[in-house]
Amino acid sequence: MSRQQGVPVIAIDGPSGSGKGTIARRVANALGWHLLDSGALYRLVALAAERRGIGLADTEALAGVAADLNVRFGTGADQDEEIWLDDELVTEAARTEEAGAGASAVAALQPVRDALLSRQKAFRRPPGLVADGRDMGTQVFADAVLKVFLVATPEERAKRRHKQLKDKGIDVSLAALSRDIENRDRRDSERPVAPLVPAEDARILDSSGRSVDAVTKTVLDWIAELGIAGQG
Ligand code: C5P
Repeated sequence: MSRQQGVPVIAIDGPSGSGKGTIARRVANALGWHLLDSGALYRLVALAAERRGIGLADTEALAGVAADLNVRFGTGADQDEEIWLDDELVTEAARTEEAGAGASAVAALQPVRDALLSRQKAFRRPPGLVADGRDMGTQVFADAVLKVFLVATPEERAKRRHKQLKDKGIDVSLAALSRDIENRDRRDSERPVAPLVPAEDARILDSSGRSVDAVTKTVLDWIAELGIAGQG
């Protein structure tokens, strides 16, 4: 077994707006482990492609963009995630609904997924990794020591996303957001490659009506219950 394989991974998958990103960050911080926001990689492929004028039909060029992605993740003063693309801070641009829809389109292409695979695996470093996305537990880290599949009702997910955007001064109608979320869910769940489905051994966690603290506590309790410890 390689040293990397011995490093424990906690996979947190689920649909958009289920709270995976927030919960994954809280859990990683609580454990002092590394964090992989895999969705950001797909968002950045879409963003970089758009900037280079590459269309969604050009699979080969998109896979090239994914392979050459010059990305760096950092933490801002308020502990928020910072995303750098080609040394430009693109956190906001990567978080828009357009980038999300573009991500969902490029993510359906197997060559793009293949091009991002080794990059995602490289995040697995001691003492451990918390990885969030759609296929962390089913494909990228199928040997994860804990697989959580986070869900929430579509209404609650749309409301959360609405609040997030509103806090950032972005005005989008709740109805339009609900439609976007529904479309993205459908595309992510029905695609033939790496569809959004819980791993067979995943624990389903419903975050509807529960606070971030409460959901984080449930995951940390599972980690303690399973005796999961970091390496090194
Ligand atoms: O999680 P986030 O909303 O940032 O993901 C954006 C899109 O990227 C998703 O809708 C999905 O299509 C794609 N994605 C994926 N596999 C992952 C993470 C994200 O296909 N592991």
